[in-house]
Amino acid sequence: MVEPSPAPRDGLSTTRSVSPGILKIQELNRRALEDPEGFWGPIAAELSWFDRQGPLFRATADPPFGSWFPGWSTNLAYNCLDRWIDTPRRHRVAFYWEGEPGDHRALTYYQLYREVNRLATALRAAGVGPGDRVTLYLPMVPELPIAMLATARLGAIHSVVFGGFAAPALAERLNDSGSRLVITADGGWRRGKVLPLKPIVDAALHHSPSVEKVLVVRRTGSEVAMVPNRDQWYHDAVAGSTVAVAAVPVPGPHPSFILYTSGTTGRPKGAVHGTGGYMLWSYYTTRVVFDASDRDLFWCTADIGWVTGHTYVVYGPLLAGLSSVIYEGAPDFPQPDRWWTIVQKYGVTTLYTSPTAIRAAIKHGDRWPRQHDLTSLRLLGTVGEPINPEVWNWYFREIGGARCPVVDTWWQTETGGILISPQPGTAHFPLKPGSATLPVPGVDAQVVDEDGRPLPPDRKGFLVIRRPWPGQFITLWNDDARFRSVYFSRFPKWYYPADYATADADGYFWLLGRADEVLKVAGHRIATIELENILITHPAVAESAVIGRHDEMKGEVPVACVVLKPGFDGTPRLREELLGLVRTTLGAIAVPAAIYFVEKVPKTRSAKIMRRLIRDVVEERPLGDTTTLEDETSVEDARRAYQEFKDELRRTPP
Ligand code: WTA
Repeated sequence: MVEPSPAPRDGLSTTRSVSPGILKIQELNRRALEDPEGFWGPIAAELSWFDRQGPLFRATADPPFGSWFPGWSTNLAYNCLDRWIDTPRRHRVAFYWEGEPGDHRALTYYQLYREVNRLATALRAAGVGPGDRVTLYLPMVPELPIAMLATARLGAIHSVVFGGFAAPALAERLNDSGSRLVITADGGWRRGKVLPLKPIVDAALHHSPSVEKVLVVRRTGSEVAMVPNRDQWYHDAVAGSTVAVAAVPVPGPHPSFILYTSGTTGRPKGAVHGTGGYMLWSYYTTRVVFDASDRDLFWCTADIGWVTGHTYVVYGPLLAGLSSVIYEGAPDFPQPDRWWTIVQKYGVTTLYTSPTAIRAAIKHGDRWPRQHDLTSLRLLGTVGEPINPEVWNWYFREIGGARCPVVDTWWQTETGGILISPQPGTAHFPLKPGSATLPVPGVDAQVVDEDGRPLPPDRKGFLVIRRPWPGQFITLWNDDARFRSVYFSRFPKWYYPADYATADADGYFWLLGRADEVLKVAGHRIATIELENILITHPAVAESAVIGRHDEMKGEVPVACVVLKPGFDGTPRLREELLGLVRTTLGAIAVPAAIYFVEKVPKTRSAKIMRRLIRDVVEERPLGDTTTLEDETSVEDARRAYQEFKDELRRTPP
């Protein structure tokens, strides 16, 4: 577990512990932790509440050890829309939307408000009310945020499922959430082709009995089958409904959405976010991390199907009253400069994206961004995976013209919004490429060893969050027990994110990747066991072990070692079948980069797969010493297993 910290980085390594900006942030953090009421009260007062009974935060004896706005009531959609429409912001553009084929639409706050009301009317007519679940399986079209807001307006709970998930994965999420209604589209555009969505919903609904109704957005014009009495075109459903629907007041802890994410059992976890705390956190972090104000045009490139899209495409920007960009398609369509064209065309000031996307841009070459005027940019951000300093520096130099601070933001689906990040607008803030820097005020982060003891600077350990913060998720849908055991039992009393980290002498955090069996593939969370569970359903497969292999572009890619049942051969055709099986069960993002057919996979005496060891072999690294410690295996056994497995892989190229 003990490893030296990364060497001091180049670029903007100008940190001094005495920087006044850092002292200011640390002071804000101290105040927020010591007196949550006094710190968050005035910030909460910038938002609208129907009722404010009792304290803003109530500590609890059990996980998550606190509840935010327990006696207050509000509505998320009201705060995103109604709050603005009696102000001059009414006619400000909320979203500049651009479709991949080049079509575009601008929606002002008022127009968005009207569209949300029209859909809310239709949803209410379909019987959707507070607490009901609505699944959204849509491309990046304006109807997606509209549907989220319409659902929230009624006090119902949305579950957005990323459009890249296959039918069985969608069905699993529909069933777990018990959704009554699905909103989808005929399809979406991706690299000039139609990505079908409605046929996938049709397939999923064979296995999802709770769904009564499907609304279908016409996006691509492709042929779709409509099931009578179940399916309706979205435009027909909203036709003629102009009545305003009053936003339904809900208590602070009322669930606003479920978002499924991978965990270390096969079943995805439905992270449930509340309303008041989530709202405060998305609003607050959008303001302070991105230093957001009316001069900005904000663009978070994430798909709304992931948490980054929830918080920084939809809720944060609308709560802060910003104008922002939504783009439907691929970054490199029709050419690798599509994003830079958009930055120039709209005058984007703030660009928030992933290290994977930046690495792809680097690969395409400097000439693409250089052909465009990117001088409107003033702040850059990244999220989702560790960013290597070289990539950080390229982003800083080539996209930001060596002018724009880069905020490397660390957070998770569960945390609701950013927890660790620079705040260059709040104070002079020295940056270090590759470090997410300091916790946002209100976040009590620390790096500890296996026993929860704080580690000295530069020693690798586990990141923990020691106190509740407003944006924290409230539970796992239908699974309080798992909520407690996954997040609050590794270190009783603290939140366990399952990330490795170090903190340096300046108190800056360096995030070093997952400490559990979850991969980050192009920034997306995929559990090794999810893939193993799929592979095992194939009649030829006896067993499999999936690990993450380092990848220049995607950070990490899944690699599967598969043991076949007697009588089966590891033919290229079988390999294709297995890849296809993952594609059609989970989705294209999860397809392994390689499959090795092996005689056996290395295991510990207690029959645990030695993933680290497999990873060392696959990446052609010497055996890491962590392997033995983690797997309670003797050094001798580990060495032998390493050598055997290495020989085996030599015999069986992927
Ligand atoms: C990783 C995405 C390093 C981390 C918002 C975390 C990061 C997981 C960073 C959550 C970062 C996110 N530096 N690693 N700036 N941001 N991660 O739920 O491993 O999709 O636990 O949320 O992404 O992924 P999720």
